[in-house]
Amino acid sequence: MSDPVQLSDSLWIIDGPAVRWFTVPFPTRMVIVRLADNNLLIHSPIELTPKIRRTVEALGQPKYLVSPNKIHHLFWSNWQAAYPEALSFSPPGLAQKRPDLSFYGELGDSPETFWAKEVDQLTFKGSRIFNEVVFFHIPSRTLILGDLVENFDPGTLSRFHRLVARFGRVLAPHGQTPLDYRQSFLLRHLEARSSLHRLLEWGPRSVVMCHGLPVTENAEAFLKAAFGWLQEKDGLTKPWSRYG
Ligand SMILES: [Fe+2]
Repeated sequence: MSDPVQLSDSLWIIDGPAVRWFTVPFPTRMVIVRLADNNLLIHSPIELTPKIRRTVEALGQPKYLVSPNKIHHLFWSNWQAAYPEALSFSPPGLAQKRPDLSFYGELGDSPETFWAKEVDQLTFKGSRIFNEVVFFHIPSRTLILGDLVENFDPGTLSRFHRLVARFGRVLAPHGQTPLDYRQSFLLRHLEARSSLHRLLEWGPRSVVMCHGLPVTENAEAFLKAAFGWLQEKDGLTKPWSRYG
């Protein structure tokens, strides 16, 4: 695991070991939000080791477990066993996919009251494979994505895998929605644009995703390029910034 990287007063990322997906090494990443009551919202929990337990517990009490989509589920059972008092929230489809896990509730198109003052939320609609749940850390205006945009660090990839990532449109600094994922939105762009407009209205200043380099500067330009495949002829014209 990496040491935790603090992105703001109450936001950290910790990287776990890579998992392979069609031979491509996918780095795993957990995002941790510390809420005002010292409870932690754990996004996309990575492999739980004694070192990670100590690291996380030094930040606060793991209380809410969430995942952006139904393919981010590999390490949930370990977390549920380690923190039985934590409340697990399933992204759409995960509860059906993993009936062995127990969930307190399902993530929807608006934030749960437990974290609504500090973390906003929406479901990105339009895909035939899954509606990813997107989070927004309000105090730092950081967008938290799973697979909707990936931004692989070229320095961590072999020459072959750099080519694969470039072909898939996910090589930093020009990470976008992966080609295979965006194809699942075929004929449903209108629905997806509506979600994108809501996301842009948050006015993100930073972007952190489960796979790849976080974006801490020029987030607006990065996102407009990353979602350029959804762009209307007149561009993404919604006002930039709802949180001032
Ligand atoms: Fe992923």
